[in-house]
Amino acid sequence: MKLSSYEIHCHLLPGVDDGFRDESSSLKAIGRMMEEGTRSIVFTPHMNPDVYPDTTEALLQDTYASFREKLPSGLETHLAAEYMVVNGFDDRVAEHPESLLVFPDNSILVEMSYYFRSQNLESTIFNLNMAGFHPILAHPERYLYMADCLKDFDKIADMGCRFQMNLMSLTGKYGKDSIRILKYLLGKGMYSFAATDLHSNPQLDSILAAKVPLLLRRGVRALIEG
Ligand SMILES: [Fe+2]
Repeated sequence: MKLSSYEIHCHLLPGVDDGFRDESSSLKAIGRMMEEGTRSIVFTPHMNPDVYPDTTEALLQDTYASFREKLPSGLETHLAAEYMVVNGFDDRVAEHPESLLVFPDNSILVEMSYYFRSQNLESTIFNLNMAGFHPILAHPERYLYMADCLKDFDKIADMGCRFQMNLMSLTGKYGKDSIRILKYLLGKGMYSFAATDLHSNPQLDSILAAKVPLLLRRGVRALIEG
């Protein structure tokens, strides 16, 4: 599978979440990604107070400041985050938007649990837009509970939220419901990004070795090359 030259979702910032544990394994993956054509990486460590209560934006910024000195030349990087839409996140967006780690163009990556829908997703999207951000929902095809309400994605998109596909989802690894969601969004041209959501070197091996199913190839090519 080909990688996007602009990687917008990965856990390559070492030692801060369930992604890469140390700098050397992360640098190894980054080197391989550059060989595969990646030119720019936005680091998006998890920000989820339920799972990582001690992780703050300041901690991530410090980690990034020391890691970026070791990054290869010719690679553009930026620190953002993957925000879990937990209860109260919408309030935080409304009250302290300046504290959020966002992309250079003010895009912001958000995710929901794989098990249940965030009741405040809509108000979070609204508040993010009000604060001048451009929300991107990470891997919608992994929220299997959405497979029976696909039209809700249209409403979410109409609210001003874009969607990012995980490359590994194309293999069918996450089951029939995931493929149903993926085909719906891909068929309607609703994905804006394809990314690795990379957590480890073995996962990178799997992505690079995987083949995009023939039927989905055209839509995916447009995403990666676009
Ligand atoms: Fe992620």
